[in-house]
Amino acid sequence: MDALLGEAESGWDGGARQIERDGRAAFGGEEARSRRDLLLPVLHAIQERIGWISHEALNYTSLRLNVAPAEAHGVASFYEMFSLSPRPPVTAHVCDDIACMTRGAGALCAELENALGSAGAPCAGGQASWQRSACLGLCERAPAALITAAGKNPRECVLAPATTKSISSAVQDAANGKLPSQVDTLNAKLSVPQAGQAQLRLLRRVGQIDATSLDDHRSTGGYEALRRAFEWGPERVIREVIDSKLVGRGGAAFPTGKKWEAVNLQRNLGRPHYVICNADESEPGTFKDRIVMEGDPFAVLEGMTIAAFAVGAQKGYIYIRGEYPLATERLSHAIRVAREKKLLGDNILGSGFRFDIEIRRGAGAYICGEETALFNSIEGYRGEPRNKPPFPTQSGLFRQPTVVNNVETLINVPEIILGGGAAYARIGTGNSAGYRLFCVSGHVIRPGVYETPYGPTLRQVIEMAGGVGGTGRLQTVLLGGAAGSFVSTAELDTPLTFEGTRAIGATLGSGVVMLFDDSVDLKQVLLRIAAFFRSETCGQCVPCRVGTARQEEALQRLVRHQAIGSVAEESNTLQEIAQAMRDASICGLGQTASGAILSAMNRWSLFS
Ligand SMILES: Cc1cc2nc3c(=O)[nH]c(=O)nc-3n(C[C@H](O)[C@H](O)[C@H](O)COP(=O)(O)O)c2cc1C
Ligand code: SF4
Ligand code: FES
Repeated sequence: MDALLGEAESGWDGGARQIERDGRAAFGGEEARSRRDLLLPVLHAIQERIGWISHEALNYTSLRLNVAPAEAHGVASFYEMFSLSPRPPVTAHVCDDIACMTRGAGALCAELENALGSAGAPCAGGQASWQRSACLGLCERAPAALITAAGKNPRECVLAPATTKSISSAVQDAANGKLPSQVDTLNAKLSVPQAGQAQLRLLRRVGQIDATSLDDHRSTGGYEALRRAFEWGPERVIREVIDSKLVGRGGAAFPTGKKWEAVNLQRNLGRPHYVICNADESEPGTFKDRIVMEGDPFAVLEGMTIAAFAVGAQKGYIYIRGEYPLATERLSHAIRVAREKKLLGDNILGSGFRFDIEIRRGAGAYICGEETALFNSIEGYRGEPRNKPPFPTQSGLFRQPTVVNNVETLINVPEIILGGGAAYARIGTGNSAGYRLFCVSGHVIRPGVYETPYGPTLRQVIEMAGGVGGTGRLQTVLLGGAAGSFVSTAELDTPLTFEGTRAIGATLGSGVVMLFDDSVDLKQVLLRIAAFFRSETCGQCVPCRVGTARQEEALQRLVRHQAIGSVAEESNTLQEIAQAMRDASICGLGQTASGAILSAMNRWSLFS
C-alpha cells in the first residue's frame, strides 16, 4: 500500500510506466491484477492520504488492479466517505440524524453555519469544511461529530457530545496538523450504564477489563468456549447452537444454527467457505456493536473462530463501518495479538484448525449492511444487493458458501458453548431465547446500551434507563430504528420479544429504543427518516429508487400544507408508494423504507 501511495504522491499519471517497472512489487503484478477486492482499501488509502480521489489517482488504481476505469469510478462514487472532487483535507462530519435531533443537533448545525460558514464551504484557512451526516452510531452521546484529517498521518477524532466550540477547535487543530492521535476512549460509565453489574453476560467485560489485553480477556473466561468447541467437534457445536434457539441480532432474526448447518453440509465439496462478521451497524439509533467491539474485541474474534470451526471456514472478514475508528483500532490490535498467541492462523490452540481474519472498512453506505451488498463491497463492486436465491449459505462471498453473522449474534456463541444449548434456550421467553442488547437513546435519563434476557416490557427497559428525559412527558418511542416502527404510550407494556412486538405490528430490528418527548415535532423526524432512505437507496431497482424520492416529496408537501388534492389523498399516495416498495423491492431497504413513517401516520393524525 505504501508503495502505491508513494507513487500517488509523485504523480499518478506515471502509473502505466510504473506498472512496467514495478510489476512484482507489493500490490503490483499479476497477483494484484486479479485482486479487485483491494479496490475499497486502496480508495480508502488515497482518500486518507490526499483528502479526495482525483481522476488520475482513480485511473492509476484501475490500471494497477486491472479494473476498468468506468467501473472504478462507479465504485468510488457509490460511497459517501469518498470525494471525487477536491476537498480540504479536514472534514467535520456532524450528525443531524434523529437521536441527535433530540439533543440539539439542529441548533448545533445552525451555530456551525455562523462559526464556520455553510456546510461544504471551506473554513479554517481553506484547510477544512464541515458537512451534515446521517447517524454516526454514537447516539448515546448525542449530538455527535467525527473529524477526519487526511495526510501522511491521517487522523480521526470523535466528539460526543459535540458542541460548536469543540468542533470549531478540533477543526482548527486538525487544520494545524494537531488533531489528537487518540481516536477517543470508550467511556463505559456513559455508554454502558449497567457496567460492572453481576448479572451481565454479553457486556460483562465492557469497561471492566483492559480491552487491549488478551490476559485480561482470558482471566475472565475468554477462549474457554473455543477450547470446548474443539473438544466437541463441528457437528456438536452446530447442534448446541440449534438447540439454543439463537437467532440473528442483525435484524432479520434468522436461526443461527440452521445457517451454520447449511454451510457445514457443503464441507466435502472442496469449495472454500467464509465467515463474515457484519459490523456495518448503520441503522440510525444503533450503537451496540460499536460498544462491544470497543470494549470486548477478543469476544468477537472468539465467536467468529467458533463459527468458522463449525462450518469449515479458513478465512473470515469483519466488515466494519468506516466511521468507527476506535472499534477498528481495537479489533486490528486484537487480531495482531491473537495471531501472535496462536489464536488465529495455523493450528489454533494445537487443534490443527486454521483460520484467519481480515478487516474491511465500509465507506459510508448503509446498504452495505445488507449481506449480499456487503459481499459486493468486499469484492470491490458497488454495494448493491444481489437477488436471493441463491442464498449466502450456497453462494455468498466470492460465490462461495458463506456465514454472515452480526457482532451481537457472535458474542452470544461462547455463552451457548459454555452453558450448553438447552440451558441457553431456557433464558428469555417462548421463542425469544437468550440475551439481548438494547440501544436506548433520545429523551431518556441514562442513554446507553442495556443488556437483559428477553422478556422485559418496553416500559421496564425505559425504567432501567432512568425514565423519560427531556420534558419528562413521553410522546412516542421508535422501536427497531429507521426501518422499525413508532409506538404509542399505550403500548409501553409490550414485551420486547419477537412475539410481543409482532403482536403490535412492530419489530425489534437492531434493538433500537429511541424516546421522543412531547416537545418534538414528529413530522420533522419523519422527514429526516424519509431523507435518510432517499439518500441511502442503492438505486438499483425502480420501486425503491423512485419510491424513496416520491415518499420524501409527498411527506414534504404534507408538512408544508401543500398536499396535492386533500390530506387524505396525499396520505393515500404514501400508502400506495409503500405498497409498491414492499412488494417489488429487491432487498430489505426498499421493503422497510416506509415502515416507520406509516406506523406514525397510522397511529396519529399528524397532518389534519
Ligand atoms: C438495508 C439493510 C441493512 C442492514 N444492515 C445490517 C447491519 O448493519 N448489521 C447487521 O448485522 N445486519 C444488517 N442487516 C441484516 C443482514 O442482511 C443480515 O441479515 C445479518 O447480518 C445476518 O446476521 P445475523 O443472522 O447474525 O443477524 C441489514 C439488512 C438490510 C436489508
Ligand atoms: S430495494 Fe433499494 S436498496 Fe435494495 S436493491 Fe433495490 S434499490 Fe437497492
Ligand atoms: S449519532 Fe446522531 S443519530 Fe446516532
